[in-house]
Amino acid sequence: MTEFNIEPCKSISGELRVPGDKSISHRLAMLCGLARGESVIRNYLMSEDCLNTLHAVEQLGAGVTVSQDDIRIVGVGGSYVEPADVLDMGNSGTGMRLMAGLLAGQSFDSCMTGDKSLCSRPMNRIRDPLKLMGADINLREGGCAPMDIKGKSLSGIEYKLPVASAQVKSCVLLAGMNAEGVTSVIEPRPTRDHTEKLMSAMGMDVKIDGARISIDGGDVELVGGDWDVPGDFSSAAFWIADAACMNGAELTIKGVGLNPRRTALLDVLKRMGAEISVECRVMNDDCWEDIGDVVVRGKKLVGTEVGGDEIPNLIDELPLVAVVGALAEGETVIRDAAELRVKESDRIATVAAGLKAFGVSLEENPDGMIVKGGAVISGGMEINSHGDHRIAMAMSILGLFADSPVTVCDVACIDTSYPGFMDDMGKVVF
Ligand code: S3P
Repeated sequence: MTEFNIEPCKSISGELRVPGDKSISHRLAMLCGLARGESVIRNYLMSEDCLNTLHAVEQLGAGVTVSQDDIRIVGVGGSYVEPADVLDMGNSGTGMRLMAGLLAGQSFDSCMTGDKSLCSRPMNRIRDPLKLMGADINLREGGCAPMDIKGKSLSGIEYKLPVASAQVKSCVLLAGMNAEGVTSVIEPRPTRDHTEKLMSAMGMDVKIDGARISIDGGDVELVGGDWDVPGDFSSAAFWIADAACMNGAELTIKGVGLNPRRTALLDVLKRMGAEISVECRVMNDDCWEDIGDVVVRGKKLVGTEVGGDEIPNLIDELPLVAVVGALAEGETVIRDAAELRVKESDRIATVAAGLKAFGVSLEENPDGMIVKGGAVISGGMEINSHGDHRIAMAMSILGLFADSPVTVCDVACIDTSYPGFMDDMGKVVF
């Protein structure tokens, strides 16, 4: 399907389970593929991005079996094998950037490419630290993929991240597993920590000292295991935000990943007046992930400010914060979010264009925007996703609140992260 027709909705209610977490699925495929022994993964995200990573891991020598119930990966036991072909990472920055860390220290050469969007995103942010470790990586003009990697012996480094990016942090740590000595990264702001958690859970000694995360490359043996991937908070976020803004809504999202480095949207929505609670929470006490049910009751919300340390912990939810801001009374200010400009699209520009098409007033800034909420949301037009899955979904959510139907165009991209988005809408939106 290339477009969605979104009708204004009257209510949102019921219960939903969203598909598995994208960030965790990528990491599980890569690390289980490298580990010793067989791993069983349940609720792996069967989206285009994560299937591309799974295919790449297979090309690198891991045994992959996909069945109705789970995915089984027989790891290569320490070193990948040389792939016969280019690795195509599709639309996924996480896939390409994390995989680059793993490939840089192998004993063979490799090449990665991706779609038009991925081949226009900055890869020098990972090439630079990898180069300091001794890697030999060649990019195209502008520091973009396709990426040629000549396998080299790497040495550990201490790297202060110039941007708060879990992808760059993870890339350096993954390269550090194959490097001589200790590799440390220092984060300017805390970002999602799935890589560190998974490395620990697979038997590695990961040292965390404030903002510094260190591993010793001489001390690496990953052991495969049995994994249940939590529901993706970033997918649940669409329904949480939708329900939070709709008076009278009552919605439960079950089995959602609640890693605190991912859930800042809940704090933002609560600040805006939303009634949200978490039930049946199982806390992480063995280096694996928190999970629970999120219960939302709809209210009229008020604007808020979002910036600083909160940003990395809701980076993928910021298009939704702007949508919620449009529906809330007063102004919603998003700042310190210039990273949005180098996502699958320039998300400051594409969100601003989308909101304006709905008749929402806003001021676009280099690092965010000020959304003037509370006005009528006008429908009756076509909205362009710019090929960006999160824009397609965020605009579909805003369309539910419009005064007449809207058509969201170019929606096939949603399959990169949330296959079944429209089916799920049909289950809870009336
Ligand atoms: C991700 C990190 C974030 C996020 C992306 C997934 C990850 O990117 O936007 O969707 O899985 O590590 P950055 O690390 O570039 O901020």
